[in-house]
Amino acid sequence: MRIFLTVFSLFGILFLLAQCSGENKPGELTSSEERKFMEKGKVIAAATFAELSGKLSAAIEEKGISGAVEYCNLAAMPLVDSLSDANNANIRRTSLRTRNPVNTPNNWERGLLADFETKMQKGEEPKPVVKLIDDQTVAFAAPIKTLPLCLKCHGGIGSDIVTSDYLTIKKLYPEDEAFGFAEGQLRGMWSITFQR
Ligand code: HEC
Repeated sequence: MRIFLTVFSLFGILFLLAQCSGENKPGELTSSEERKFMEKGKVIAAATFAELSGKLSAAIEEKGISGAVEYCNLAAMPLVDSLSDANNANIRRTSLRTRNPVNTPNNWERGLLADFETKMQKGEEPKPVVKLIDDQTVAFAAPIKTLPLCLKCHGGIGSDIVTSDYLTIKKLYPEDEAFGFAEGQLRGMWSITFQR
């Protein structure tokens, strides 16, 4: 009888443990939240990138590179404000080599950038990720690769970037480190944080 009881309560405990691990712990995202923020992040990044590249190309055509320098700036885009408000989100880009020091990565951003960079170096495709930053904040991060269009301002100085254009850039961004990139390299990452 005693053995029977012991075995019985042991099963009881195991059952309870299994129940607990099946639930979402307070420090984790549910899979439906993960899907939701992944989807939102992708939509916001794609819309913002489309607007940004469109504006950049048009400005380059109209005013040349040095006249278009201000168009690679999210802060100047009304679309970013409206998407941020509509989604209760903070939309930014960051990089291990920044042009504007405002875009310097924080600790968790630096970690994700390093992961993306490692993947690229191994020849693997870096994929967007969703991560819980604290109980209230969820981050979406996605790699930004360098396209041919980008090289005119982020490529080699004197080769891709005309030296006089670079002087304009350097004057506006004296701490610039965002040059010397080649096509297809990791230029940076989207960092979009949502309130849960
Ligand atoms: C006409 C010049 C120009 C072109 C073309 C350009 N950029 Fe930029 N880029 C800049 C400037 C200037 C900044 C700094 C913006 C700011 O003040 O936030 C910047 C900032 C960035 C940042 C934010 C991190 C940082 O370095 O401060 C990323 C990421 C970036 N560019 C990616 C790209 C990509 C990808 C392309 C091509 C699709 C591109 N850029 C094309 C001029 C340019």
